[in-house]
Amino acid sequence: MREYILSEFSKYKISEEKIDYFFSVVSPIFMHPEFQKRVDSKFLHHGKTSLGMHIINNSILTYILCFKFISLGYDIDIDLALKISMLHDLYEVCYKDKESCVKKSKVINLHGFVHPIEAVINSFCWYTDIFKDEDEYYKIIDGIIHHMWPFPVRCVNDFLDTEINNYGKLVFISDKVKSFIVESSNRFKIFNVSFGKCICSEGNIVSLADKIVSLKEIFNFKNP
Ligand SMILES: [Fe+2]
Ligand SMILES: [Fe+2]
Repeated sequence: MREYILSEFSKYKISEEKIDYFFSVVSPIFMHPEFQKRVDSKFLHHGKTSLGMHIINNSILTYILCFKFISLGYDIDIDLALKISMLHDLYEVCYKDKESCVKKSKVINLHGFVHPIEAVINSFCWYTDIFKDEDEYYKIIDGIIHHMWPFPVRCVNDFLDTEINNYGKLVFISDKVKSFIVESSNRFKIFNVSFGKCICSEGNIVSLADKIVSLKEIFNFKNP
C-alpha cells in the first residue's frame, strides 16, 4: 500500500515532509483490522476496486485538493479533511453481497441513502480517539453524512426505521452522537431525505474527491 500511495503522489509536486504528514494521519486509521478487512479484494466497492482502496484513493486526492484550495486562499484544516476522507465510507457489509445485507422494505433505506449513517456509527465504535473534541467530531459526522452530495442521504429520526446493517452497534453510541446524526441528516429535508451539503469546506473537498475517484473507478480509467 505504501508503494501505491508513493507512486500516486509522485504524479504531483509534493514534498517528502507532506507525504510523511499524510502517513502520520492516515496510517493509524488504515491499520485498524476493520479497515484492513475492507482493503481485501472481496470487499468490492466500485468495479474491481475494493472499499479500502477507494477510501485511500479518496484520501490521496483530498490531500492534493486541500493544497490547491489553500493556494487559492482558503482556510483548510488538512487533518480534519483526511479524517473525514478515511472514515467516509466505512459502512458495514459489502452491498454487492446481498445475502449479508438487511432486506430493505423502503427505497430510501437502500445502500446509497443509508451507508453514510452506517459509516458514522462504525467510525465512532472503531476510532474512539478521533471522537474526543465535540466541535471537531460534529464536523466529521456531518462530513461523513453528506459526502454523497448532491445525492441525498436518509433523514434519521428513529434509527430502527433506517434498516441499517449495523443497528446492533447503536448501544455503543453516545446520545450526543445520535443527536448529531439526527440533526445533521435532517438539514434541507425533503420528504425523508436530506439534500444538504457538508457544513465545512473539508467535508465538501472529500465529497468532490469522491466524485472524481468514483468515476475513475467505475469506468476503470487508467492513470496517464
Ligand atoms: Fe459513499
Ligand atoms: Fe466514497
